[in-house]
Amino acid sequence: MKRIGVLTSGGDAPGMNAAIRAVVRAGINLGMEVFGIFRGYEGLIDGDIKQLDWSSGGDILHRGGTILKTARSTRFMEKKWQQHALSILDAYGIEGLVVIGGEGSMRGAYELSQLGLPVVVLPGTIDNDMGYTDLTIGFDTAVNTTLSLIGNIRDTSSSHERTTIIEVMGRHCGDLALHAGIGGGADVIMVPEVPQDINEVCRKVLRGQASGKVHSIIVKAEGVELESAKLAEILEEMTGREARAVVLGYIQRGGSPTEADRRLASLSGAKAAELLYNDAGSRAVGVVNGEITAVDLEKAINMKREFDMDMYKLAGILS
Ligand code: F6P
Repeated sequence: MKRIGVLTSGGDAPGMNAAIRAVVRAGINLGMEVFGIFRGYEGLIDGDIKQLDWSSGGDILHRGGTILKTARSTRFMEKKWQQHALSILDAYGIEGLVVIGGEGSMRGAYELSQLGLPVVVLPGTIDNDMGYTDLTIGFDTAVNTTLSLIGNIRDTSSSHERTTIIEVMGRHCGDLALHAGIGGGADVIMVPEVPQDINEVCRKVLRGQASGKVHSIIVKAEGVELESAKLAEILEEMTGREARAVVLGYIQRGGSPTEADRRLASLSGAKAAELLYNDAGSRAVGVVNGEITAVDLEKAINMKREFDMDMYKLAGILS
């Protein structure tokens, strides 16, 4: 393969730039031409494409977000736009594509691969919800950002002797809540994977109060159905202690990537370029037990993420 494209799609994640840099530089090093496709699948449909040279990878390794911009494309769900995207790539002579994104982006990549285009997926999402890889690019940074925010909230929560519910991102996945919650010493961690009785949550908070805790921290994943504000109301009523809810939101998705994310992005970006260069077919690059892996794309898309119940139970014991 002589000419490849790279795009970022879906929610941005810290480390996407490091991944772009690796695809560009490893690709050029192998003698390929690398094209950047802007605004994800939307930009692909619109032909928003520019060749990237070595210096395009300069001064971006440490930056959050994505220099290629990103989007969630509803048009791309339709076959006619997927065919159209293929004709755009054909016009540029682009023979293979690297897609950096989460589950939805991987589905789009799979559709393109079914139309005959070799596509390599890199897992770029703070959610850590992709079954074929232990870690996604951006997750470690988001956990650490969230941890630091929990620390700030802990200070004020303690001063005011309140219960604070901290809602974190993750869509249907509780990994961000679990990891930030265990690292941040949360009294209760609420995730969509484990149904939780509200009375039990209240009991835990009351138990903490009885043992002398002046404040409580509840880390709740956004995928848990009960609204955080409603939970605060219920807790206030049932525990007799003031409660507040805070939704962390996009603040978790920005910022400079950690070393772990920069490394994962760099190694997997280089791997993606190598796979396309060697015409290795459509793959999803990830990391399993510390090793970079390249799983067949169709297989990867069907692998479900297992929630770490042991870690969840341990968090309950330690709180
Ligand atoms: O998938 C990443 C993510 O940040 C989720 O955690 C969150 O639910 C979603 O994206 C938010 O998406 P948007 O940027 O479209 O509001």
